Amino acid sequence: MAASNTYYITTPIYYVNDVPHIGHAYTTLACDVLARFQRLDGRTVKFLTGTDEHGQKVEKSAQAKGMDPQLFCDGVSQNFRDLSLLMNYSEDEFIRTTEDRHTQASQALWQAVIHAGNDDIYLGKYAGWYSVRDEAFYGEEEITDGADGKVGPTGAPVEWVEEPSYFFRLSAWQDRLLEFYDANPEFILPRNRRNEVVSFVKGGLRDLSISRTSFKWGIPVPGDPDHIMYVWFDALTNYITAAGYPDTDSEHFKTFWPATVHVVGKDIVRFHAVYWPAFLMAAGVAPPKRVFAHGWWTVEGQKMSKSLGNFIPPHEIVDKYGVDSVRYFMLRELPFGNDGDFSHRAMVHRLNSDLANDLGNLVQRVLSMINRNCEAQIPNPGDLHDEDTKLLGVSETLLSTVRDLISRQEIHLALEEIWRVIADANRYVDAMAPWELRKSDPDRMASVLFTLAETIRRIAILVQPFVPTAAGRILDQLAVGEGARSFATITGDTKLVPGIPLPKPEGVFPRFVDEAA
Ligand code: MSP
Repeated sequence: MAASNTYYITTPIYYVNDVPHIGHAYTTLACDVLARFQRLDGRTVKFLTGTDEHGQKVEKSAQAKGMDPQLFCDGVSQNFRDLSLLMNYSEDEFIRTTEDRHTQASQALWQAVIHAGNDDIYLGKYAGWYSVRDEAFYGEEEITDGADGKVGPTGAPVEWVEEPSYFFRLSAWQDRLLEFYDANPEFILPRNRRNEVVSFVKGGLRDLSISRTSFKWGIPVPGDPDHIMYVWFDALTNYITAAGYPDTDSEHFKTFWPATVHVVGKDIVRFHAVYWPAFLMAAGVAPPKRVFAHGWWTVEGQKMSKSLGNFIPPHEIVDKYGVDSVRYFMLRELPFGNDGDFSHRAMVHRLNSDLANDLGNLVQRVLSMINRNCEAQIPNPGDLHDEDTKLLGVSETLLSTVRDLISRQEIHLALEEIWRVIADANRYVDAMAPWELRKSDPDRMASVLFTLAETIRRIAILVQPFVPTAAGRILDQLAVGEGARSFATITGDTKLVPGIPLPKPEGVFPRFVDEAA
């Protein structure tokens, strides 16, 4: 088992020919926050994202452009690297499934299943429905009549496929999967998703076609190159490729596998929580520790779709509102796990109330008062009163509350808790009215401003995973060095040092005024 001070988190690898939209941005954003949080909390983190480059859909897109599929992928994979830069993700590795190491890992996994000797992979013939858009096989009972022909449960068109195929004997894994879910009650989160998966598996499992012969763009099946692997067999393997599979004795593999958490959208839970652990167990490899499924975003109340043309490219909102505001909004607006709606109105509301008013104003007021009234230096705490130590106590215990929530991926609740302390700090400023103490009791004013500056320091350290650039600017303004920003500095002896000179304060979260309105 990976030691508890390591943390391996993955995003789904993105279909390489998709044009990134806010739904894609969301999955990786959540992972980025979790990864940054664990790093600041002293863990050794591996955060993986990348692109899923094989399959019929990609082959067709390349053909439509008259391009060699590899060259086509080399070009479009960049879109997702650009997304990382735009959204300020901190991934440690970006994997592409067309890399050699991945071909080797996928073939090794396939062979490990064969070598286990349980006949879990066998040659047969597939006859059934396939959706190229979803890259998924569907049972007869899942097919309905759409406007232009048969469609699968997601509304994607399906076609009838008949071809020789290798199968994975998933039907034999029902009991072992159910035992595994029982023994690991938090393997699938949130709970409602877990219940769905358990009842799906209880309903009986069909063997899964895991190779195709009617097209070429994929990883050849070892020993039978007329077949290429079903794209999901190959895609899921990326998580162990990046950990160094098949070299399971390597330090890297032993450090990071099993992964701490695969974060996925609710649409791909079945692949991650049913097929993937079964493939791994059949190959004698430990399954990941957790699959967390988040919900889907709609836009202004409507599903994002090609026909409505309402996909929001992430750069559109980042250019308009700023990257930290977009990050904050997406994480705070809905419970992680639920569906939610993106609207400009809601975005502007959050930005102005939570960021500009609550946090931005607090920082701006306190730093300006210190600048004007304390010779632009960290003030002397002097004798602290009960109300001061109370606020300092609250901002210190906040770390353990937030840590606990983040360990369960309750990102929105973590933000709620942090903002509760921001509200406490704002109430404290109003109650203490330090501006009135300037003449009457300058020592008391210094204590109050010290208490506030120290509270802001802790809050800024804690919000780094969510709004990294703004948090960094607040810490710069408090003269907190780059090396003194880990969570370990929230508790314990670290405090702001009186007398340290501070730079001139500048606003961090301006109010958003809609020019068009
Ligand atoms: N390539 C597969 C994943 C293979 S993982 C071994 C895939 N790619 S995807 O590009 O279609 O989706 C990537 C992620 O984006 C998924 O987690 C999916 O749920 C998420 N989203 C796509 N549209 C979304 C929304 N509208 N809202 C939220 N997330 C959504 O699936």
